[in-house]
Amino acid sequence: MNIRIPLNKNTIGEAEKKALIKVFDSGYMTMGKVTKEFEKKFAKHLGVKHAIYVNSGSSANLLAFSAIQDNDKFKPKSVKNTFLKPGDEIIVPAVTWSTSIWPIAQTGAKAVFVDSDPDTLQMNVDAIKKAITKRTKAICMVHVLGNSGHINEVKEICKKKKIWLIEDTCESLGVKNKNKYLGTFGDIGTYSFYFSHHITTVEGGMIVTNNDYIANKIMSLRSHGWTRDMNNSSEYEKQFPDIDPRFLFVNVGYNLRSTDMNAAIGLVQLKKLEKFNQRRHEIGKYWNSEFQYLTKKKVIQPMKITRGAKASWFGFPIICQSQEIRDNLRTHLEKNGIETRPIICGNMTKQPGIKNIKYRISGKLSGADIIMDRGIFWGSSPDMTKSEVKYVVSVVNKFFA
Ligand SMILES: Cc1ncc(COP(=O)(O)O)c(C=O)c1O
Repeated sequence: MNIRIPLNKNTIGEAEKKALIKVFDSGYMTMGKVTKEFEKKFAKHLGVKHAIYVNSGSSANLLAFSAIQDNDKFKPKSVKNTFLKPGDEIIVPAVTWSTSIWPIAQTGAKAVFVDSDPDTLQMNVDAIKKAITKRTKAICMVHVLGNSGHINEVKEICKKKKIWLIEDTCESLGVKNKNKYLGTFGDIGTYSFYFSHHITTVEGGMIVTNNDYIANKIMSLRSHGWTRDMNNSSEYEKQFPDIDPRFLFVNVGYNLRSTDMNAAIGLVQLKKLEKFNQRRHEIGKYWNSEFQYLTKKKVIQPMKITRGAKASWFGFPIICQSQEIRDNLRTHLEKNGIETRPIICGNMTKQPGIKNIKYRISGKLSGADIIMDRGIFWGSSPDMTKSEVKYVVSVVNKFFA
């Protein structure tokens, strides 16, 4: 038997191909009405006011942090929040993806790392409380691997301290905590539609917010800093009547747009999101029960679901009893065709690139070290067949036999 279990499988089918070709054949391929429709349907699905489509989850994060920067001379007086100045601090978990961190440095702010719990893999709430200083302007909660961070507790902290709450939900699209979608609790939520994520547009990302000012600023930052895509563009046009409104620039922007072709794929995939997530949930639940005997013996601990959440496993992360077991299990799985990877980037502060940014570590990162040294995950793609799901169990069981 020659079975291969990749980290992710292609979920793009005939309907997506047809939708893509339709846009291609229309001759209008850049960002336009299909993107608008995708944004509208995505916002409706999650129950938020604004959704803004971009070319990756990393771009979504860059725009989220740029949107809270103190760099807009035209900000209405009615906007009362405290915006980010160089040297201000943003609290992040040590276990996260690199581009949850680099955009913080790109705004001139300092990333403050707190520990992640090896059981749920989410950022530790007590560590967050201890990391807050007068310079803290935001908490970036990263919902890790299809699970939920302790979002209600962190939302309370942000409310009390009057600081921004950004939810990097790139790994947990469609996951709910107490019946509310992750990414919609805070001021800004970000999502990734990279190939391996809960739904895909090949590359792509989305930013959601209920804040009109932030939404408009992001729409401007996404496209060169111009006003053209902003819902309140007329307010700027009135102020600068001598400038052609089609080429009126008010922000220090980027070009992080995607295309209508990618959005067309997204519209089809969005319809499949709940079905995909249910399947990921079932696969995770099944493996959890099959490996309970190993959990009882404490040789492995699969990711524990955060209270209040219904997980949609992005993969199946486990923490092994020792680094030696993890390393040997990895070799065994790979030899048997099951692709594996580390848990995200491990402890981000151990990555060499961190030397290029300003950062601070608050408290100990011993949980993050455990996740890095003893953690591993394999894929839980919604398209996995029953026999593939069972094959993983037999390979793992053989290792521990
Ligand atoms: C937590 C997190 N944030 C951001 C990103 C970046 O998303 P993208 O790959 O679409 O740029 C990822 C990607 O996997 C991620 O896991």
